[in-house]
Amino acid sequence: MKRREALRWLGTSSGLVLLSSCGGGDDGGALVDAADTTDALVLPDGAVCAATRNDVLGPFHREGAPSRMMIASATEPGDRIALGGIVYADDCTTPLAGAALDIWQADATGAYHEPNAGEPFRLRGKVDAAADGTWAVDTIKPGNYRNGPGWRPAHIHFIVAHPGYRTVTTQLYFAGDPYLPPNDSCTSCGSDDAARVIPLVARAGGGFTGDFRIVLARA
Ligand SMILES: [Fe+2]
Repeated sequence: MKRREALRWLGTSSGLVLLSSCGGGDDGGALVDAADTTDALVLPDGAVCAATRNDVLGPFHREGAPSRMMIASATEPGDRIALGGIVYADDCTTPLAGAALDIWQADATGAYHEPNAGEPFRLRGKVDAAADGTWAVDTIKPGNYRNGPGWRPAHIHFIVAHPGYRTVTTQLYFAGDPYLPPNDSCTSCGSDDAARVIPLVARAGGGFTGDFRIVLARA
């Protein structure tokens, strides 16, 4: 990836993200660490390299998801996404080999599925970043879902961890979603963070690709 491209996706915002419940809706519930006080790194050309910001954990994270690249099974309904990226250290350059990603999401109708014997960890899984920091999963585009009186933009949840760095609990959004701000019913969620709103690019033969690069702050 070219450096200018890297700076573009990192965006220009940084600082504190205040997180709270969403008024009892589907993404209400537990708070996550909001104390992201890492100062942004200002690069020589004035662009800002910032750690990926926290977002609401929501009530649907479950421990024990299996390690697998196929977050969505081959029979899962929905538009396929080849989703991947790179996990970087807070210089936005050094890849974090072995960073652990815990990923969960709703199905194409916006429903989350509890782990059970019939559907063990449907739409949940863990992957580790490779030596060059890259990671990749095969999944589907989640649907919008109701949250209180309104709707949430489609999103995929992540917890990303690496020794010596702050674990980030975050959400990934998709450009063009009609429920992105100002229409996100979760006003305390981070869907206004441009660094986490990615385009989906149509793939020859069907489906999409998505590129989500993650930057971890030092612990
Ligand atoms: Fe969610």
